[in-house]
Order: sequence, then structure tokens, then C-alpha cells
Amino acid sequence: MATLFHLLCLALRLCPPPVHGPTYTLSEAIIGPSFYDKFIWFPVPDYSHGRANYTDKETSRLLNLTYTTPDTFVLRADYTTLLDTGGAGRNSVRIRTSSSYTTHVAVFDIRHMPEGCGTWPAIWETKPTDWPTGGEVDILEGVHGKSPNLASLHTTPGCTMPANRTQTGTSVSDNCQGGCNVQFPMANSFGSSFNTNGGGWFALERRMDFIKMWFWDRKATNVPPSIREGMGKLHTDSWGTPVAYFPNTTCDMMPYFDIAAIRIYEQVQ
Ligand SMILES: *[C@@H]1O[C@H](CO)[C@@H](O)[C@H](O)[C@H]1NC(C)=O
Ligand SMILES: *[C@@H]1O[C@H](CO)[C@@H](O)[C@H](O)[C@H]1NC(C)=O
Ligand SMILES: *[C@@H]1O[C@H](CO)[C@@H](O)[C@H](O)[C@H]1NC(C)=O
Ligand SMILES: *[C@@H]1O[C@H](CO)[C@@H](O)[C@H](O)[C@H]1NC(C)=O
Repeated sequence: MATLFHLLCLALRLCPPPVHGPTYTLSEAIIGPSFYDKFIWFPVPDYSHGRANYTDKETSRLLNLTYTTPDTFVLRADYTTLLDTGGAGRNSVRIRTSSSYTTHVAVFDIRHMPEGCGTWPAIWETKPTDWPTGGEVDILEGVHGKSPNLASLHTTPGCTMPANRTQTGTSVSDNCQGGCNVQFPMANSFGSSFNTNGGGWFALERRMDFIKMWFWDRKATNVPPSIREGMGKLHTDSWGTPVAYFPNTTCDMMPYFDIAAIRIYEQVQ
């Protein structure tokens, strides 16, 4: 029967493309109002020495720094208050997921990010405690709206990246202790050009032997259907060369990155 199906599908040219590598199935889709249930707010002063006052969940809702529509979660900084010199920082919002993830694919569907002087939007994965022993993976990061996006790993000493690796981005530094950074080649991966283009999708695949990242802008013609349609199953093998590729060839990721062997992916919008 398998052979018959194979011949039939060859004849009809309907054979599914060959699949190598793991299948990921959707475990969590955090969209619109569910951000309030799946994320924890960080009501702390900014320990990265920025002038921000991260509000708690109630305050962020009261000040309308967070609000939702059925398919959108908006998170923003206060942009109307004239601050006192030397006074409290600007009210803003910093959140983290209540769940932890091991081997996984994460997809971030973003329509708009803060832009302009003094802004520092970021998406990163780290252990809630013990930084940087648990490793830090920055998927989206930049300051003052300066394009393009910069992805990075941060580790304790001893983890480096090979200079020559299969990625479309440009390595800026290969020593992960100070941060091994990869600059994205697309200008619209960050800041005002990202926003005027309608945003896009950032994706991360995190495994024991590598970390890969991709980006598709909203108008790209090569957005995989699994990304555009938020499918229940996906294979990263069909996504093409990653923008950033961090193999474990000269970095034993085990001591640096706390991951184990289960496969999930989440869609965040
Ligand atoms: C700073 O954030 C805290 C926690 O949400 C809030 O109670 C406080 O009012 C904020 N500070 C100012 C000056 O708004
Ligand atoms: C919050 O801000 C949004 C966008 O500016 C606005 O549409 C909405 O009405 C505001 N909500 C409240 C409760 O003020
Ligand atoms: C980079 O790696 C590729 C594939 O492994 C190889 O073909 C190429 O020669 C390498 N380039 C340099 C400059 O080492
Ligand atoms: C890379 O990961 C694989 C799979 O977990 C492992 O077998 C290998 O020892 C790792 N390589 C290094 C240098 O840590």
C-alpha cells in the first residue's frame, strides 16, 4: 500500500516534500488577552540602568500601558509625562512567561515596536535567576530605533562561535561571554522601517546542538505557511537558511543553556 501510494503520488506530483529533522507541534498560542494569563509582570526599577519604572499588571492596565483586542496585545511606555530631572523613571512594562521551555520553536508575530531616542525594545530567553549561568538568548534587540536587528547569545566564559557558519546575517563578535552578536541583513528587521512595513515574524529554534533564528517581514513573499497561518505542526527544515546560526561545535551549550529534549512551539502575537 505504501508503495502504491508512493507511485500514485509521484504520478500526480502530490508527494509531500521529504521531511528531515524533527516535527514540532503547537503547545501554546498566546494571543491578545491571554498575555494577561500567561505572562508575569516585573514591577522593578530598571536594573539595566535605564530610566524606566516597570509597572505591575494592575498599574499597566490602569495607565493603559497594556491593553488588548481579540488578536492583539499592546505593551508600551508612557509617552505623555514630562519627567522630573533626577526623579523616577518613565513608566513602562516588562513581562516574562510563567512557563519555562526546553527544546522548542518560538514564533513572535509583531506588528509594531517602540522606536526613537531612548527606546530599547527586546525579546530574550533566560533563566529567571542565576544570570548569565543559565545563558541568555536575545532574539530581538536594539536601542534608539537603530536598524537592523541584532541577535546575541550571552554566556559565562568558554563558549565561542565558529567564524564561518551557514547564516545570512553577519557575525559581529564570536565570543559569547561578551555576547556573540549577529547583525540581520534586512533593514526592516528593526525600528521605524519595521513598523512602516507592518512588522513581521521572528522565529527561534532552540536545541541541544544549535540555536537558529529567522526573520520574515510582513510583506515578504517567502513566509512559510506554518508561520503565516500559525499551523499546529511545523518543520523548520523548510524555512531556508537561518539569519543567525549558533552551533555547539565550539560551545558545549549544556552547561550554558538549560535545555532538555522535549519539543514544543509557541506562537506569540
Ligand atoms: C512605578 O511603578 C509602580 C508599580 O507599578 C507604581 O506603583 C508607581 O506608581 C510607579 N511610579 C510612578 C512615579 O508612577
Ligand atoms: C487605551 O489606548 C488605546 C490606544 O490609544 C485606546 O484605543 C483605548 O481606548 C485606551 N483605553 C482606555 C481605557 O483608555
Ligand atoms: C566556510 O564553510 C563552507 C562550508 O563548510 C566551506 O565550503 C567554505 O570554504 C568555508 N569558507 C571559509 C572562508 O573558510
Ligand atoms: C553538541 O551537541 C550534541 C548533541 O547533544 C552532542 O552530542 C555534542 O557532544 C555537542 N558538542 C559539543 C562540542 O558540546
